[in-house]
Amino acid sequence: MNLLINFVYVISAILFIFGLKMMSSPATARQGNLLSSVGMLIAVVAAMLSNGLDYKWIILGILIGSAVGALLAVKVGMTEMPEMVAVLNGFGGLSSLTLAWAEYHQQPDTSLFVAVVTFLSVLIGGVTFTGSMVAYGKLSGKITQKPVIFNGQHLINGAILAAALLAAVIFCLSPASGFGYFLFILIALIALGFGVTSTIPIGGADMPVVISLLNSYSGLAACAAGFVVSNKLLIVAGALVGASGIILTQIMCKAMNRSLANVLFSGFGSGAAKSGGAAAQGEVRPASAEDVYYILESADSVVFVPGYGLAVAQAQHVVRELGELLEKNDTEVSYAIHPVAGRMPGHMNVLLAEANVPYDQLIEMDDINPRMDSVDVCVVIGANDVVNPAALNDASSPIYGMPIIETHRARTVIVLKRSMNPGFAGIENALFFNDNTRMYFGDAKESIQALVAQFKNS
Ligand code: TAP
Repeated sequence: MNLLINFVYVISAILFIFGLKMMSSPATARQGNLLSSVGMLIAVVAAMLSNGLDYKWIILGILIGSAVGALLAVKVGMTEMPEMVAVLNGFGGLSSLTLAWAEYHQQPDTSLFVAVVTFLSVLIGGVTFTGSMVAYGKLSGKITQKPVIFNGQHLINGAILAAALLAAVIFCLSPASGFGYFLFILIALIALGFGVTSTIPIGGADMPVVISLLNSYSGLAACAAGFVVSNKLLIVAGALVGASGIILTQIMCKAMNRSLANVLFSGFGSGAAKSGGAAAQGEVRPASAEDVYYILESADSVVFVPGYGLAVAQAQHVVRELGELLEKNDTEVSYAIHPVAGRMPGHMNVLLAEANVPYDQLIEMDDINPRMDSVDVCVVIGANDVVNPAALNDASSPIYGMPIIETHRARTVIVLKRSMNPGFAGIENALFFNDNTRMYFGDAKESIQALVAQFKNS
């Protein structure tokens, strides 16, 4: 039986790996998700075939979990996904903590190795749980999105962590001593507290990076818990989640040209970021719906550049409609995707997929930039930082070095936004003052609806 269970675990691990690989492209992501879910299902069935399990509790857990999962799947909107991922991450961390607790409660007299992995499950699991809850609160606006910063904060956080490590050393050396249980609870409480104190100094808009990092932590906690209960598949699955979470975190930091330390410790978004953009000089040239219609109507190629404002305005469906009208008018249409446009990884891909924009029209930043000089019109929809040339030419700008979609090189740029207000980084954008830029002010959805109406009435 053991051999069969191990064999099924290997199959599950293979399905996880292929599933993950398929998730790297929007075209295969859904099948990848399904494949990984099947891997998890057969892993759960195999684990349940192990001896000595009390099925009534497991079945109760499955029923409650499935009901909550089904409800969330139906109720949670596409734009609330980061919040949901935060909550689910948090529960993953909490389950690693409680699993390690249950094992320690049953068998306090363990080896040094098991004591160390028990400590790691509790520490990382606890930090993941409360850190994720804070991230959820910030993203959903239930607690302040502003970084909560006070003097000596890093020192206090360092002291909390040092206390946890000290308690861990004493705990690991004699986990079965009378003092062991007290230390175990102390470590769990410190971990839960540290999750809060290490997440509150980070601004709401950086939460996607934090969630990805916490996702990685939840994997590491599960991996450690896998060692505690000697379950090979939990070790493998935890390691996969840990590695993919850290890779995604790295990709996001690179796309913003910020270090992870900067995201975690700088309090970015607290208002401390100076207006370091290139001195934006010149005149703003507003355009009406009719002006923009004539520009688009005569264009051979149009590149839409969506950003956070597209999500705010929920303009994805009308953009696709406008794209189709342009194609009927023999215009070549594509969508340029910046890796950190919006507020979550893949934000623009998700929105445009929801509106059924064909995948082959979505062009990654690195592929569109070399062609930018030959693009007739770039239509920037609620994007700001990701098209700000200060990232290329102003060394004093907070976003200097961040790769951008180089819309300023297109023949004409039309920017859809409501005002001259800055984006996430809080800096001016010289693009809006360029000679080849026209500002089309208004809510993105309403502005595009007006263009659609112009095309339909022409
Ligand atoms: P932003 O720079 O935040 O700019 C969004 C623009 O949308 C704003 O200037 C705003 O101008 C406009 N807007 C808002 N609501 C609108 C509406 N209803 N209609 C039309 N326009 C609207 O967005 P971006 O260019 O997508 O850049 C993303 C930023 O977030 C980057 O700085 C990135 O580093 C950061 N960030 C992203 C992530 C991920 S994973 N995506 C994670 C952390 C941080 P008005 O107010 O004038 O309308």
